[in-house]
Amino acid sequence: MIFSKITGIGHYVPENVITNQYLETLMDTSDAWITERTGIKERRYFTYGKDTNASMAAEASKIAIERAGITPQDIDFIVYATITPDYYFPGPGFVMQRELGMQGIGVLDIRDQCSGFIYALSTADQFIKSGMYKNILVVGSEIQSTFLNTSNEGRGVAVIFGDGAGAVVLQATENAQHRILSTHLHADGTYAEELYVKDPGSSRSKRFYDDLVEDNKTGDVFMNGSAVFKHAIVRFPEVIREALDKNGLKPEDIDLLVPHQANLRISEYVRQQMKMPEEKVMNNIQKYGNTTGASIPIALCEAWESGRVKDGDLICLAAFGSGFTWGSALIRW
Ligand code: UT7
Repeated sequence: MIFSKITGIGHYVPENVITNQYLETLMDTSDAWITERTGIKERRYFTYGKDTNASMAAEASKIAIERAGITPQDIDFIVYATITPDYYFPGPGFVMQRELGMQGIGVLDIRDQCSGFIYALSTADQFIKSGMYKNILVVGSEIQSTFLNTSNEGRGVAVIFGDGAGAVVLQATENAQHRILSTHLHADGTYAEELYVKDPGSSRSKRFYDDLVEDNKTGDVFMNGSAVFKHAIVRFPEVIREALDKNGLKPEDIDLLVPHQANLRISEYVRQQMKMPEEKVMNNIQKYGNTTGASIPIALCEAWESGRVKDGDLICLAAFGSGFTWGSALIRW
């Protein structure tokens, strides 16, 4: 049987550090409020003229490919998760493919918001298990700072999000000991408008765009924070348990849980629900905020680099976000 295995991982975060103290100069907020409600101390914003969604992904991918011991030309497919493409279309995966000299191979854009990386990983896993591809690059990359309303009006959303990119190389293996064990994907569109950006949507009157005025706010992120929070703390434990049940495992078998970095309070709540010790849950939201599709590969990469992911470990990835979407992946490293 063919399975898939993560053989290389990399991440890139822009150098521009935005502290809570800096945000205090833009809006009526405080380091104390942000820290208490979210755990975030700082986040990164891209540098205009230097970083693009595709270029950040390319940097992360180069590291992942090198660590996998292969070259960009060995990659035979790209799955790229983002909700913040450089162009409205085509997606940044195509530009990144060009930048890395991988022209000709297929590129699949995934738009599943905070669960985007798990959807991307799951998709790549199916392509490998079916025998269609052997070496897939799976990417999550976001530039969200451009879209944030950093006036008082947008403060409930703006303080949370940041920019960054992460990537993994997924390769075919016949070794059943070290592989992705299973992935689990869910969504409930009932809540599509609880966390969304309405425009530029296509189903508007032509006049809407002709008359678009500068203070039109339908292009801002709308988030019903408490609704997202309430669903997240139910869905995270549920989808982690689903993955464990599927494989006949228990929460205590997990060596490291890498949750989507949505909010430190959410991660902490999930950790307590799963009765896991602090050292078994990866958190780096303090440094990067919520980087949506990029948060899991960035967190997994930092965990791996610091020696928290070892051969044979049971790693659980889990996410929840806009859509609503949620998902998990269980990996025997
Ligand atoms: O990946 C999924 C993405 N999203 C999430 O995971 C978000 C999940 N939700 C959350 O993390 C939380 O709901 C937030 C952190 C967004 C907000 O925390 P909260 O405890 O739900 O606060 P709230 O929205 O109920 O606001 C409480 C108060 C309000 O003032 P009043 O009405 O009590 O006077 C807000 O106006 O805090 C005020 N507030 C702020 N104050 C200072 C909202 N944003 C800020 C701010 N600084 N940045």
